[in-house]
Amino acid sequence: MLKNEYDGLRTFLQLCEAHGEVKTIAGADWNLEIGAITESASELIKEPPALLFDEIKGYPKGHRVLSIPTASRVRMNLALGLPVDTPKMEIVRYAAKKMKAATPIPPAFVETGPVMQNVMRGDDVDLTKFPVLKSHQLDGGRYIGTGDSVINRDPETGYVNVGTYRIQMHEGNKLGIWMSPGQQGRLICERYWKQGKACPVAVTFGGDPLIFFLSYTKFPFGVSEFDRVGGMLGRPLDVIRGPVTGLPIPAHAEIAIEGEIPPPSEETHQEGPFGEWPGYYTVGTAGTNDMQPVIRVKAVYWRNNPIMLNMAPQWPGAPHHSVRFEGGILWEQLEAAGVPGIAGAYVHHPMLIVVAIKQQYAGHAKQTGMAVLACATGARNGRFVIIVDEDIDPSNMDEVVWAMTTRVDPSVDIQTVTNCWASPLDPRMPPDVSENGPHTNSRAIVYAVRPWEWRDKFPAVNRISREQMAEVVKKYSGALPFPKR
Ligand SMILES: Cc1cc2nc3c(=O)[nH]c(=O)nc-3n(C[C@H](O)[C@H](O)[C@H](O)COP(=O)(O)O)c2cc1C
Repeated sequence: MLKNEYDGLRTFLQLCEAHGEVKTIAGADWNLEIGAITESASELIKEPPALLFDEIKGYPKGHRVLSIPTASRVRMNLALGLPVDTPKMEIVRYAAKKMKAATPIPPAFVETGPVMQNVMRGDDVDLTKFPVLKSHQLDGGRYIGTGDSVINRDPETGYVNVGTYRIQMHEGNKLGIWMSPGQQGRLICERYWKQGKACPVAVTFGGDPLIFFLSYTKFPFGVSEFDRVGGMLGRPLDVIRGPVTGLPIPAHAEIAIEGEIPPPSEETHQEGPFGEWPGYYTVGTAGTNDMQPVIRVKAVYWRNNPIMLNMAPQWPGAPHHSVRFEGGILWEQLEAAGVPGIAGAYVHHPMLIVVAIKQQYAGHAKQTGMAVLACATGARNGRFVIIVDEDIDPSNMDEVVWAMTTRVDPSVDIQTVTNCWASPLDPRMPPDVSENGPHTNSRAIVYAVRPWEWRDKFPAVNRISREQMAEVVKKYSGALPFPKR
């Protein structure tokens, strides 16, 4: 259960500061330098501090950018209200349990909140007021939306969706948005566009890490991210009713906009290129004509001394998070789909998912592999799914590689499945398919488990037990620099 003291990004940062987990850097440049500092810190420093950039070149003191807020286990735990030394798989297990047990709580509308401290409307709207970053050399412009939450409402059911989609700043009052085919925010837009209408939208650019986690996590359509945030918090999320769109906007958000996304037949704009999470420039590669929807911004709201969240994609070896929370959501979804014996699930990368099971019957491993492809969290953008036995920690790649190299006979234990849901961001997708669709790819499911039929004859493991190791660490931690849990 999250503690009540945890209330938005400001409180999260105060807690992080109290643990010596934040480094403030003054004078850096929004143009490539903040991106380079962030990526260097993530790649070169194990468990780097959160980076709070202030006095950004050309911008007043107080207009800040926050990078890698949850790149250490301590901060990940603070974001979730867990004891700071909670181990990696326990964090994932917590997410799974919480998702399963917590009753979703709808947000509570409040009159106003800190996000309304400053307002720009109509012709006054000018987002260049904020230190919007250009992160990589070949990026086609400045991206205000990387750690964002895009909020829109289904015109047919009234369901409010929240998703993270990249947003480019074309002009002070015009943004470009890239929503991959099949994304829920996009499906909602398409329902307005079919009626020839613009889709009302609100977006926040910086807020509570929990809202951000849930906004980029794939839930089934109709499962409300804000209700899930409430369930995790154990109390409703305070939201204001957006004066322009009526959409709920978290009251403690740092910066928010309201506007509309007109049908592409009415207006689009060249978008990208943008260095993406697989570590490549894919859609919108320089020179290609990638026309994407725009957001016409009608109003901007921001807190005093706003903090913009920077989640610009980085090469996968320079991660934004120390622990990937999505494994817990997948775990919950697998259990909800009726797969028994899940011992752990870890999403190392959208394209590499590992699930550990305690095998219970012939075909159990295959059921698990196929279910991963079908569950909302594992269905999109994948490449490899690896099923391991319960003695393997799915979050530990050394153990996963050991299982793959010792329990797999490639000719029988690797299954491929074609025509799965993908996105044009897949660098391996042939250029004509990436451009014209259909945006599908194939998946390999690797069954790195002891073969069920002769599992009792599988050679015994020559590794010290976890209990033995814990004893050694306890007894010899004065003599040897064992890491803290
Ligand atoms: C930092 C970050 C940026 C993302 N950018 C995009 C994007 O530009 N377009 C997109 O379609 N999905 C993007 N995603 C993935 C979606 O946020 C994710 O698939 C989410 O589930 C979408 O919301 P939905 O399930 O409500 O459609 C991004 C995820 C993260 C973590």
